[in-house]
Amino acid sequence: MMNVKDLIEKLNTQKSLTLEEYFFILDNYTEKDAEFAKKLAVQIRKSVYGNAIYIRGLIEVSNYCKNGCLYCGINRDNKSCTRYRLSMEEILSCCENGYKLGFRTFVMQGGEDNHFTDEFVCNVVKEIKARFPDCAVTLSLGERSYDSYKALYDAGADRYLLRHETADSEHYSMLHPSDLSLKTRIECLENLKSIGFQTGCGIMVGSPYQTNEHLAKDLKFIEEFDPQMCGIGPFLPHKDTVFADKEKGSFELTLFLLSLIRIMKPSILLPSTTALGTLREGGREMGIMAGANVIMPNLSPDTAKDKYMLYDNKLRTGLESVEGLEKLKQKFASIGYEIVTDRGDYKKQ
Ligand code: 5AD
Repeated sequence: MMNVKDLIEKLNTQKSLTLEEYFFILDNYTEKDAEFAKKLAVQIRKSVYGNAIYIRGLIEVSNYCKNGCLYCGINRDNKSCTRYRLSMEEILSCCENGYKLGFRTFVMQGGEDNHFTDEFVCNVVKEIKARFPDCAVTLSLGERSYDSYKALYDAGADRYLLRHETADSEHYSMLHPSDLSLKTRIECLENLKSIGFQTGCGIMVGSPYQTNEHLAKDLKFIEEFDPQMCGIGPFLPHKDTVFADKEKGSFELTLFLLSLIRIMKPSILLPSTTALGTLREGGREMGIMAGANVIMPNLSPDTAKDKYMLYDNKLRTGLESVEGLEKLKQKFASIGYEIVTDRGDYKKQ
């Protein structure tokens, strides 16, 4: 007979389970099992990263997007979305502010905007690296060709985030229009990794039609792909999408998945996402307490923040101000964590 606690321990010692075992965990876990996983996850993170929590300055560079992802508030078909893109100067001034606050990683995230040509993005990356040589640059600009990824890497970008969204191709096609496929997504991820990026995949928890079979596949995918980063946040509906009336993802399940991923991949960079903080007050802190080790405050200009709405009511924390960051530091210090001024690279084990 399988038992959830034994399987979590097996995951801890062997760092691998079968698809059936992942499914069994997801289908049978109790609050007590989640509590067990959480304690183990925190202990493991501590053994690799000590008390350090890494911060990344998120810069939402454009909300133009050529894709029609059914869940996403900035998808091409949303006519009520006011579009914007930042200029090179605006992006650099976000970095400037962030640098003063202690950020040593900048994440340029945006929709798939044709104006963000290789030439433009490479120039921005080179300029950031020239002005802030002790900083890492992460890109999150969607699917691009091998040559494009290679050019961005050669320009100095260190990391790339591209959530796989779901590891089940049928489920993938229920979340995306027919011009997008899981196959292409995975090819992109493989390319990023082979080029040398610290690469991040990830999913939304509780996306429409998601089942525990899908989530088991996601865990198996993460195990095998072995990413350096993984973005896990709850699905939250956006009013102008076809998923406007769909249920939100579960807060508890998101925390449990964070713990399982930490146990499976001790040195993974695991953000506690804005979506988690939006779903529940204090959610981002609870994500850290479940095994996450990264927080990504928003450094975008205020005018951009209102328009980069992937889902409704996106959290505006004020963490990106001096006072906000100070408060956060104190909050974490009181529970034994330290928010560090550091690039916070992946620690190879
Ligand atoms: N709810 C939660 N997350 C979302 N994302 C996009 N739309 C939503 C939504 N409605 C996530 C996707 C994407 C990342 C940038 O944001 O997983 O990869």
